[in-house]
Amino acid sequence: MGAATFELRHPRGTTTVFAGAGALESAAPWIFGELAGRPLYAVSSAPILARHRDGLARVASAARSLEVFEVPDGEAAKSLEVASDLHRRLARSGAKRDGVLAAFGGGSVGDLTGFVAGTYLRGVAFLQLPTTLLAQVDAAIGGKTGVDLPEAKNAVGLFHHPRVVVAEAAWLATLPADEIRSGLVEAIKTAALLDPALLDRIESELDELRRARPTALGPIVEAAARAKARLVESDPEEAGARALLNFGHTLGHALETAAGYGRLRHGDAVAHGIRFALVLARSRGLEPGFGARLGRLLDRLSIPPLPPLDAARLVDLMARDKKARESGLGWVLALAPGRAEYGVPISAGEVSAELARFLAGREPARPL
Ligand SMILES: NC(=O)c1ccc[n+]([C@@H]2O[C@H](COP(=O)([O-])OP(=O)(O)OC[C@H]3O[C@@H](n4cnc5c(N)ncnc54)[C@H](O)[C@@H]3O)[C@@H](O)[C@H]2O)c1
Repeated sequence: MGAATFELRHPRGTTTVFAGAGALESAAPWIFGELAGRPLYAVSSAPILARHRDGLARVASAARSLEVFEVPDGEAAKSLEVASDLHRRLARSGAKRDGVLAAFGGGSVGDLTGFVAGTYLRGVAFLQLPTTLLAQVDAAIGGKTGVDLPEAKNAVGLFHHPRVVVAEAAWLATLPADEIRSGLVEAIKTAALLDPALLDRIESELDELRRARPTALGPIVEAAARAKARLVESDPEEAGARALLNFGHTLGHALETAAGYGRLRHGDAVAHGIRFALVLARSRGLEPGFGARLGRLLDRLSIPPLPPLDAARLVDLMARDKKARESGLGWVLALAPGRAEYGVPISAGEVSAELARFLAGREPARPL
């Protein structure tokens, strides 16, 4: 099956997305048109380059020159220090406004590179070349970029859309099982919120998907990326419904910060966050059976249990979440396939009490 192509229109232009097996080949003419005669500055980390440098070389063959900036692997790349180092490396290399950056890696490399591209010289073009499932289904799409502070995840950033996303399914073949699991959680999130047919498909093909078969993953990537792109088009800067995509992330981000960046995979943290959001949804219209269904799907992924964490600290971190307002934190609650609410106010007292029970493992694994 070939790659799919679609566009995401946003207030500053269009992102062209190529997804699936053969995406790189399908994107070649587009890349050539965009890069011809321009210098390319690629950001990546050593483990990714060790496996897929040839893919980057194919992209760069259209450019006037290629310079590769290696950054620390994983979440450690998402800091102001690494971003500032990249700004300075770009300046030393003489990068101009017509230089193009490329993010070659997972969501960490993508968020960092987008942030640097959006801030260097007040914004230069960049390409997303996502190599993890999580980045292909979610992080590379939609223009959210940023870095972490020790105090709060993703706390510094901006909207800056890539010119193109090349989600080549072949790159996923080298992903460890843990990273496939983490990416599947974001696909399940999007499917539960926006695309009931995709949820059915993930449920029936989960075993194939976990084996990282590019032919199985490609269509899931395409469907999840398309569903996210449509929502982003309707609300590019999260004034409203785009907030739905934060399902599971309110607690998820706090868990990542509390555990120490890089200790919990993003998807695993979101999986725990989804379970907790389902607990909160029980008394707020959660459709009988839907919570149990999502719970069973997450059970099948065997998400690792949480390390011991303090409920009060998590509540404090959630209050600092960038989605929080002075008026409090609005929760995203998925209630039925394709039906969810955002901005749901829940008292700090209820959240604290439920969270303490949740962390103590006194909640049933399935929320219904
Ligand atoms: N901007 C957004 O809209 C958005 C959405 C969701 C998540 N995110 C962010 O994405 C980040 C998580 O991204 P992630 O899950 O891709 O993790 P990651 O970028 O940290 O990468 C995880 C690991 O996968 C390895 N890896 C990458 N590609 C590989 C390949 N093809 N084969 C083998 N190993 C490979 C990397 O070396 C790394 O060790 C988080 O920081 C999260 O906040 C952003």
